[in-house]
Amino acid sequence: MTAPANPDKARRKPLVLGNWKMNGDVATAEQLLADLLQGERDSPEALAGVELGVFPPYPYIGLAAARLAGSRFSWGAQNVAHFGNGAYTGEVSAAMLRDLACTWVLIGHSERRALFAETNAQLAMKVELAIRDGLLPVVCVGESLAEREALMTESVLAAQIDALCGVLASADQRFVIAYEPVWAIGTGLTASPEQAQQVHAYIRSRLAAGKVPGATGVRILYGGSVKPSNAQALFGQPDVDGGLIGGASLIAADFLSICRAAAQRSIR
Ligand code: 13P
Repeated sequence: MTAPANPDKARRKPLVLGNWKMNGDVATAEQLLADLLQGERDSPEALAGVELGVFPPYPYIGLAAARLAGSRFSWGAQNVAHFGNGAYTGEVSAAMLRDLACTWVLIGHSERRALFAETNAQLAMKVELAIRDGLLPVVCVGESLAEREALMTESVLAAQIDALCGVLASADQRFVIAYEPVWAIGTGLTASPEQAQQVHAYIRSRLAAGKVPGATGVRILYGGSVKPSNAQALFGQPDVDGGLIGGASLIAADFLSICRAAAQRSIR
């Protein structure tokens, strides 16, 4: 039996974003950007209908902006300060990122939550400033392996989402959620398509319960060991609207192949 058409999914444009994390140097960044642009030139039709972007480390954002301007690829930052401009040594503000024509900013990646002790209160401030300064926040949420094994996945996600519902409610759908189970990040373990779907649907319902308007229109990306071999099955799920890609985004051929898989996703 054919699955029924899913009009909500059809109206959420697929999105694939590459998080380079703290990798590379000027030479490798140049090469990666050149390879992505070549991939776009080689088969533009295979990428039609997908929104694409990369998150280089801060020092290479200007380079990405210069090379990617006019292409299908947008760019963003992996983090942003929870303050506006001022005496905050070492920080980078949302306004500065906007100045570099960034479209996106990652907020609350599990590496920032775990290694840099970012709190929900700080994340809410980041989301608010990002929106105020015209960036689209990509809010990352996810549970650890211990939390999943203790059957706490939903309660952990609920707490992470509820902490941001206030600021997201006034964002007029100008944000994206990325579900990144911590146990799947950089481990080679991927959530099964069914596991991802279950959590994505839960996230959507939690946004709606938190009075975030238009939750059915919010894009929810999956991240955690996405590869060319598993991308299509993940993106085919009804509530999976694309991916946030780590390791595979450093290899242009793999990243492009994942982007093409998003273009071919089935609407169900
Ligand atoms: P990997 O794709 O390397 O597992 O990383 C996922 C991630 O953390 C993207 O933000």
